Amino acid sequence: MEDYGRFLALLASTLLVGFLSVILSLVWVFHYREGLSWDGSPGEFNWHPVLIITGFVFIQGIAIIVYRLPWTWKCSKLLMKFIHAGLNTIAMILAIVSMVAVFDFHNAKNIPNMYSLHSWIGLTAVIFYSLQLFLGFAVFLLPFAPVHLRVALMPIHVYSGLTIFATVIATALMGITEKLIFALKNPAYSASPPEATLVNCLGLLLVIFGSLILWMASRPHWKRPPAENAKILSPIGATPEGTEVESTMTNSSNVDKSDLRGNTEPARKQNIKFDEAGQRSTM
Ligand code: HEM
Ligand code: HEM
Repeated sequence: MEDYGRFLALLASTLLVGFLSVILSLVWVFHYREGLSWDGSPGEFNWHPVLIITGFVFIQGIAIIVYRLPWTWKCSKLLMKFIHAGLNTIAMILAIVSMVAVFDFHNAKNIPNMYSLHSWIGLTAVIFYSLQLFLGFAVFLLPFAPVHLRVALMPIHVYSGLTIFATVIATALMGITEKLIFALKNPAYSASPPEATLVNCLGLLLVIFGSLILWMASRPHWKRPPAENAKILSPIGATPEGTEVESTMTNSSNVDKSDLRGNTEPARKQNIKFDEAGQRSTM
């Protein structure tokens, strides 16, 4: 892998920032707020930020870069798809529980639902995320979708995945700001009490975490090498796994296919070129 040291340094920083964010959210709710409970009290609301930051931000972020970990490149693509899909499913479940917590809390306290921009954008992100998850399973995991559909959907999958992730970070920042404005009364948010400083730091960490994930997921030279795709392109057309019949290369007649039959340097460079054209070489 090119720039292996830089990749490892970025990965370590990303994990550190991600863990710190989860820990700060716990410090926030346990030290400054009412802790966690499920009884219609503010403790129930507190599940909302904790589960969102743990699941929808941290776990989703890791799910996005899991294909990029070089030590997983020797694992089968199918296994990596299960890991990617599994982590995204866990993120989805935690996001849903966190939404149930806030709706339940609002209903218990007779607070209106869905009035804020935060809640509108948040619910939209959750709906698109479930659609992404459903289409991901249906098209890339189950063996029924034809190659041309996989090829057509992959750039959309990557684009919408990254856009949803960025939207989730933005929604979390809105939610944090709202909560601080609502909750801090005496002293007020504008007086910069320690809670406000801690939670502002949490917001900064979320932005750093999001930027690191987006950076790592958008470097063409750090993507999983197209070894399996190359096998698929061989004239025999044998597929090592049912679900591996996928490559943007298959619809390109002018590619020198002899370059693509192994994980050779020319093959990698050719794939990077396709990536830059907005297409995915490995699906
Ligand atoms: C409310 C979604 C992150 C704070 C809501 C509601 C939704 C939602 C749909 C409306 C609930 C209702 O109307 O009963 C999300 C999503 C998030 C996210 C998808 C992920 C990015 C956060 C975070 C905080 C937060 C990190 C920080 C504390 C709040 C607050 C409310 C709320 C204070 C109640 C006021 C309102 O309805 O806007 N959230 N939220 N949210 N959320 Fe979030
Ligand atoms: C790639 C997001 C669910 C299959 C990606 C990428 C993102 C992403 C951002 C680009 C990663 C990279 O370039 O390294 C998401 C999100 C999901 C989701 C947010 C859930 C809501 C799924 C599911 C599957 C799937 C359920 C089914 C197996 C794939 C495949 C790739 C991919 C095959 C290509 C990896 C590569 O280029 O080597 N996904 N995904 N995704 N995703 Fe998903």
